[in-house]
Amino acid sequence: MTGDQRALTVGLLGLGVVGSGVVRLLHDHADEIAGRVGARLQVGPVAVRDRTKPRDVEAMHALHAAGATLTDDPSAVVGADGVDIVVEVMGGVDPARDLLLAALKSGQSVVTANKELIATHGAELLSAAQEQSVRLEYEAAVAGAIPIIKPMRESLAGDRVRKVLGILNGTTNYILTRMTEEGADLEPVLAEAQDLGYAEKPDPSADVDGHDAAAKAAILASLAFDAEVTRDQVFTEGIRDVTATDIAHAHRMGYVIKLLGIAEEVEVDGQRAIGVRVHPAWVPAEHPLASVREAFNAIFVQADAAGALMFYGRGAGSLPTASAVVGDVVPAARALLAGEQLPRVSVARKPIRPIDDAIVQYYVLLDVLDEAGVLAAVAATFGDHDVSIKSVWQEGEEDHAQLLLVTHAAREGNVQACAAALEELDVVRSVASLMRVEGREV
Ligand code: NAP
Ligand code: HSE
Repeated sequence: MTGDQRALTVGLLGLGVVGSGVVRLLHDHADEIAGRVGARLQVGPVAVRDRTKPRDVEAMHALHAAGATLTDDPSAVVGADGVDIVVEVMGGVDPARDLLLAALKSGQSVVTANKELIATHGAELLSAAQEQSVRLEYEAAVAGAIPIIKPMRESLAGDRVRKVLGILNGTTNYILTRMTEEGADLEPVLAEAQDLGYAEKPDPSADVDGHDAAAKAAILASLAFDAEVTRDQVFTEGIRDVTATDIAHAHRMGYVIKLLGIAEEVEVDGQRAIGVRVHPAWVPAEHPLASVREAFNAIFVQADAAGALMFYGRGAGSLPTASAVVGDVVPAARALLAGEQLPRVSVARKPIRPIDDAIVQYYVLLDVLDEAGVLAAVAATFGDHDVSIKSVWQEGEEDHAQLLLVTHAAREGNVQACAAALEELDVVRSVASLMRVEGREV
């Protein structure tokens, strides 16, 4: 046997996609993990909703090999004697929040993959963990297998992060990749993503409307800027309005369209504030994020001293996500064995910059009449709203034309007011598309 003969018990809340992977890894890699921890990690009780449900065969084999019980009673895990670490892979806020608060208060360390919970009640849970000097770890909650929480919290602790740009949702990245590479519209590709099990059926809104990415962006903003940022503070737009035409225009201009989670610290009226948003954006084809295809995730971090960093990998899936969960269990176990006393870390509520004050570049597609004075009227409207045009292209079709404009960085509120004023012009038939451009001008 490798490692120490001591053992710690890991109880689980949930044995679905991620929980099955966790149980398998703890079984399959048991010797290496024991060597790294200095004790064996024993899988303990596992609580699920329905004990009679058919389950992953290999996970059940691992459970039986460990002699672990499957129960529908979470109190067999939470606060239970002999369970040292609770792994929460059930999802949702209720009852996960109450269960994890109870686990932490009873002195158990907690590892969770639950982005929704951390993005809404992270500060409360962290404070409960600090009270008891136990660990609360959540690497898997953002971008699955990709190590990003520990690098932000530990490796970059001596630096100052300025901006984080992430492809944080694999489902939407898969959809946008298929639309880009096949020239397809959203609806058929979304149906395909649902058939492949990426997007939920019948309601894919958690992914498609940006909610999943927004929870992850809130967590990243909190870590990057030592603040408490919650999901409801993230400006969120999903990909439902992205068309094959937008993608074709972006391609012609040397860009790709990605759903980005963006967190930045900015100065507003002499005060530091946090800007945090999720929306589709044009990204220059040469930007490292542009080449992230299919269901992969990536996070691009700009820090003062380190410069630009990129983290890339699988953002979901049973074993990739379990790798991050077990990667959190190991240090939690080591800390328990060492009797680690955790210092209290201060987390402040910092002001959130209203989206209207964001400084952004835009791509604007206008359907206009093709006659004298149109360009002048359009340009005057941009000028009236203090939005500077960087470049313009026109394509004519009989009596009307499409005007494609890229602006310089401008105040978001001004661009939106400008778009509303453009809609009112007699020469403008419609503002066909309006999309932010990221990764070039600040
Ligand atoms: P899942 O497949 O739906 O599994 C959820 C598990 O939790 C099931 O075993 C379920 O029991 C159990 N459960 C749910 N409510 C419960 C309750 N009230 N009491 C006891 N057990 C309960 O979910 P998942 O995909 O593994 O996701 C788990 C967590 O990981 C979520 O927070 C998710 O956001 C996060 N995550 C998932 C992925 C991924 O690739 N799937 C990636 C990153 C993060 P039954 O089996 O009896 O229904
Ligand atoms: N549904 C998420 C995605 C995975 O598509 O990236 C879990 O966060």
